[in-house]
Amino acid sequence: MPQHPFSPIKPFKALRVHKTTEGPRASVQCVTRGDLTSAEVLVRVAYSGLNYKDALAVTGRAPILRSHPRVPGIDLSGVVEESRSAAFKPGDRVVATGEGLGEWLDGGFAEYAFVPAEALVPLPPELSLLEAMALGTAGFTAALALRRMLENGQNPHQGPVAVTGATGGVGSIALALLRRAGFTSAAITGKSQAAGYLHALGADEVIDRAHLEWDAKPLATAKWGGAVDNLGGETLAYLIRTCKPWGNIASIGLAQSPALATTVMPFILRGVSLLGIHSVQVPRALRLAIWQQLAGPWRVPWIERGVLREVIELEAIEAAAQVLVTGQATGRYVVRLAGTEA
Ligand SMILES: NC(=O)c1ccc[n+]([C@@H]2O[C@H](COP(=O)([O-])OP(=O)(O)OC[C@H]3O[C@@H](n4cnc5c(N)ncnc54)[C@H](OP(=O)(O)O)[C@@H]3O)[C@@H](O)[C@H]2O)c1
Repeated sequence: MPQHPFSPIKPFKALRVHKTTEGPRASVQCVTRGDLTSAEVLVRVAYSGLNYKDALAVTGRAPILRSHPRVPGIDLSGVVEESRSAAFKPGDRVVATGEGLGEWLDGGFAEYAFVPAEALVPLPPELSLLEAMALGTAGFTAALALRRMLENGQNPHQGPVAVTGATGGVGSIALALLRRAGFTSAAITGKSQAAGYLHALGADEVIDRAHLEWDAKPLATAKWGGAVDNLGGETLAYLIRTCKPWGNIASIGLAQSPALATTVMPFILRGVSLLGIHSVQVPRALRLAIWQQLAGPWRVPWIERGVLREVIELEAIEAAAQVLVTGQATGRYVVRLAGTEA
């Protein structure tokens, strides 16, 4: 494919984070394509998701953005505008998660984004551009976790799978995918008032995190067939010591803490496996296979199930990010750029 320069497009809107003397500050601005990090494919962004990581970037609570100014947004769905890659052509519907978007590359909180062809996935025809971001990084990560658990032998007969941070994006989608895959589950949450939402997604049991039995013995009573953990810290330590023999625990997040205090006892006396889930840099074949799974056997009517909390505009991102970093959100915020659904 011959290399050719991209044609000019009019200035467009983006939320950018700048470094100031008071720390990182986000604002909606008018930018040009020359302001963005470049890559082979220019995408007209339809929707982006607001993930926990994006909320950390926008509020400046953690150094997610590798340089400034930068457009956050670790995922996006949209339509190819121009392409220097033979793999994509104008008009293709695409989805992208991770691979540096909203970290070392400008991300999805802009009307246009340059995306490396390697990071871009053709959107399966079963999924709309809005559904793609109702799932977004959260859905991709939940599916990656379940896939790795299944590959490591997780079986519904082992017992219920505990899901922590259950009302969050990853937790909500994990509950529905577990039900789809034939597992029973327990939603462990700080929001017992969201029990109706969690049951509707597929949780068989809803447990208030404050009421967990924090038996600190290295091997406490085995209760969980496996677990999907979004919190880290004390909660992950609890899951490890209460997991049944040969259960798998997918370690995804650190919403509570990045620390982990455990003994090796559950690993060597119960055969418990701790699976690290990393959604940013994923082998391309696995990335494509997961999107096929989400569009096919693991498809769920996400919008009907309430996983899509709200579609917001760029100007509302900062306020929504505050809701996310304080753990108050239920489901996913999706940011509308050029999207026309809902
Ligand atoms: N490994 C990866 O590649 C990967 C990919 C995506 C996300 N993640 C991580 O996974 C976690 C969840 O992501 P998300 O997008 O689903 O986030 P989210 O939508 O903000 O959900 C996080 C949920 O965790 C719970 N929570 C939040 N703060 C808490 C705190 N201080 N203590 C205890 N519980 C708290 C809340 O659920 P309840 O009230 O129901 O408990 C909250 O809704 C984050 O840590 C994120 O960085 C990692």
